[in-house]
Amino acid sequence: MLANLEYSAEVARDTAALYERVKTVIPDIEWPLHAPYVAAINALKKQRNAVVLAHNYQTPEIFHCVADICGDSLALAKRAVETDAEIIVLAGVHFMAETAKLLNPDKIVLIPDERAGCSLAESITATDVRQLRQQHPGVPVVTYVNTSAEVKAESDICCTSGNAVDIVESLGVEKVIFIPDEYLAAYIAQQTEVEIISWQGRCEVHERFTADELEQYRQNYDQLTIIAHPECPPDVLRVADFVGSTAQMQNYVQTERPIRVLMVTECSMSDNVAADIHDVEFIRPCNLCPHMKRITLANIYEALETLEPRVEIEASVAKRARIAVERMLSAGS
Ligand code: 13P
Ligand code: SF4
Repeated sequence: MLANLEYSAEVARDTAALYERVKTVIPDIEWPLHAPYVAAINALKKQRNAVVLAHNYQTPEIFHCVADICGDSLALAKRAVETDAEIIVLAGVHFMAETAKLLNPDKIVLIPDERAGCSLAESITATDVRQLRQQHPGVPVVTYVNTSAEVKAESDICCTSGNAVDIVESLGVEKVIFIPDEYLAAYIAQQTEVEIISWQGRCEVHERFTADELEQYRQNYDQLTIIAHPECPPDVLRVADFVGSTAQMQNYVQTERPIRVLMVTECSMSDNVAADIHDVEFIRPCNLCPHMKRITLANIYEALETLEPRVEIEASVAKRARIAVERMLSAGS
């Protein structure tokens, strides 16, 4: 049955503590639009024995107000294995929901909008991987998790931006095929002696940042710390003071407490970190990920209500893809 989604005095009272958490990043005029969904989702999660896993690029009303588990792709994969809930709602993009399903084949995994894709995942097919293997016989394939289950099924091991160098080195070989992000591949190649054969996939969000724009920010803001995601182009990474996964970027700000920081990544990242940290100034040039932004409180609520859309992966694909993901997890990084 549909909940009453009015902003009543009861909803205001029940969600007051959550609003306190996000009030520096969500204007009070917007809260009455979010609060009824926040209250309804949190109630429905309990009834359904469900959890919401949210990526760092989700908007603050999702990230801070309805998510049970938050993090980068690596954290979401690791924590997906640990949950006792019967239902997982993945507030993120499709490949993240597939990873959660691979690791929880007997659970219901919901993705609130099936169109939430990823330009990296779109850039390569299983046939491409088989051809790469033919061109480079015997060379293992390390696959960034930003790929479809079909591509993972053709791979030896997966990695995320948080563990890519360790995973490449864990294989103890001289050469690997690293797919599909050419910029992440170039970044790894600088950190290791292992020869990297790459593919020409790119993140449509991070490839838009330029070194010139960052240099301009440095001139305009004193004592500016620039931290960037490794999906950015190499000249952008050269300008950055720190490079890391979204969780590593968040951790950097939490521990280093820069005076002023520019997070070269998706827009919601700064909002989510800024909601918790009030002594750092966030400079916010950012690019929106249109795929991440397909997930809303309204469609999370609807997914929990209808238990659709579900993520399903063909059994023979899932079996092989799971091995590549589990190898990553047991490599320990
Ligand atoms: P992280 O694993 O660093 O969170 O990155 C995922 C992603 O899609 C970045 O664009
Ligand atoms: Fe894919 Fe880039 Fe969006 Fe991340 S930010 S989900 S890599 S398109």
